[in-house]
Amino acid sequence: MNHYLQVAQEIAREAGRLLLAEFHRPRAVEYKTEVDIVTAADRKAEEFIVDRLHTHFPQHAWIAEEGSRRESETDYCWYVDPLDGTTNFAHGYPVFCVSLALVRGSEILVGVVFDPVREEMYHAGQGEGAWLNQRPIRVSAVKSLSESLVATGFPTRKRHKHPNVAYFHRFTQLTHGVRRDGSAALDLCYVACGRFDGFWELNLNPWDTAAGVLLVREAGGLVTNFQGGPFRLDSEETLATNRQIHAEMQQVLVQATAEAARG
Ligand code: 2AM
Ligand code: CA
Repeated sequence: MNHYLQVAQEIAREAGRLLLAEFHRPRAVEYKTEVDIVTAADRKAEEFIVDRLHTHFPQHAWIAEEGSRRESETDYCWYVDPLDGTTNFAHGYPVFCVSLALVRGSEILVGVVFDPVREEMYHAGQGEGAWLNQRPIRVSAVKSLSESLVATGFPTRKRHKHPNVAYFHRFTQLTHGVRRDGSAALDLCYVACGRFDGFWELNLNPWDTAAGVLLVREAGGLVTNFQGGPFRLDSEETLATNRQIHAEMQQVLVQATAEAARG
């Protein structure tokens, strides 16, 4: 496990530096459109990551956001998000990260998230705890929703019909605030280290969630679907909290869903 964690951190750090170099490049000169920049940075980081994974772990499979896939005989699989926070990156908003997780079957064994802008490295090993820049982290001790800072996110496209607008409205009324920073992996890490007390989002992919979910669990938090049932990597709903405000957040989500269904 330690070997996996060490290599994953090295790879995430280097991939993060690649992203940061692209981020600081004068865009108008080098690229025609924002979409091109993102594709170039995403692809470059992804190629680097899967190449390094293959070198270090030739037996392992991987699934990466930009389309790289590798099957394998073993049930070890890396979920790779080379750039979480793509829209931020494209607009020069400095909130994005690299996310890597090693999964065996349905178990998340290792999670690593690197934020190159703040030089923040988050890592967790199953049953071994969670760390930020090599210091142990814990979820917050906030006990009620009314005292909490929570976070969510929206998909890049088709936001106008999205049910999350109703949840956002409700949580804005009930908390100190709702942040919407555009990187699900970092939102989960912020729950793990106590900056946020809770996070919810719909329709995330396993490469967005796997590493951050392990961070939250290993930092003492709880991750479920909106009904409080077990979170799975293919779950449509992610609810991650410091445990203390979990039931309250769940109740808000269930009620808002019922109200939306009644119209
Ligand atoms: P990305 O930046 O790698 O695309 C936004 O709150 C979060 O959801 C980000 O982690 C973002 O990842 C992801 N995301 C963006 N568009 C999405 C979509 N259409 N479906 C699912 N997840 C999406
Ligand atoms: Ca992503």
